[in-house]
Amino acid sequence: MDTAKYPRFLKTLHWSMAVLIIGLLAMGFFMADIPETAPNKYNLYPLHKSLGMIVMLLLLLRLPARWRGPLPAEAAALEVWEQRLSHLVHLLLYVAMLAMTLSGYFMSSFYPHAQGIEMFGLFTIPDITSKSEAVSGYFHTLHSAGAWSFVVLLGLHIAGVVKHRFFDRPESNVLPRML
Ligand code: HEM
Ligand code: HEM
Repeated sequence: MDTAKYPRFLKTLHWSMAVLIIGLLAMGFFMADIPETAPNKYNLYPLHKSLGMIVMLLLLLRLPARWRGPLPAEAAALEVWEQRLSHLVHLLLYVAMLAMTLSGYFMSSFYPHAQGIEMFGLFTIPDITSKSEAVSGYFHTLHSAGAWSFVVLLGLHIAGVVKHRFFDRPESNVLPRML
């Protein structure tokens, strides 16, 4: 392995999950904005849930691989505060991925009018809770707040990558570590 880069498995997971999650954020905000009375209100929900559960599965593969390593050596050209901030944002991105997938699943599982998650119409992931509109609403609030926190974290993450790529010394560029 090139010790300056993330292993191939983590790189593949990083980029495939980034595409899925950015798509889910856009899709989620779009579908949540459609008025309750519109006939197409629930058209995208099954696809959103299916893709969200795929992200949960990929996260379950990613977490042990991430914590077991190997990981690239610290990006030594960065200032200490930049290293600390990037570690904090990475940790919070993992927390946000976990929070979004779990809150989505619990929201759906508690929701009285949903019966399991139809995975692309192929098979069903069962509910794991009793039904309660109130508790489902609680996870809905968590999911919406989580979505906005995700947007902020992602903004910081991308701003960091762009800063090191375009505004710092060439040795500070961290993008090749993930390519
Ligand atoms: C990383 C994964 C996920 C992301 C980034 C994401 C993102 C979003 C966003 C941005 C919204 C709109 C929030 C709002 O403005 O109120 C939303 C709504 C929703 N999400 Fe997710 N989601 C994810 C996973 C899931 C999962 C796994 C499920 C269920 C299995 C799910 C079910 C829902 C439902 C049912 C809504 C609509 C709530 C409403 O009626 O307003 N999501 N999601
Ligand atoms: C939803 C989208 C994204 C999520 C959830 C995400 C999450 C993460 C996480 C958790 C890490 C730390 C890796 C680890 O140590 O395990 C990371 C690293 C990285 N990400 Fe992202 N990322 C996303 C999108 C992007 C985008 C759009 C870019 C490009 C602009 C990017 C570029 C990078 C780079 C270059 C690193 C390596 C940083 C380093 O350690 O030196 N990411 N990302």
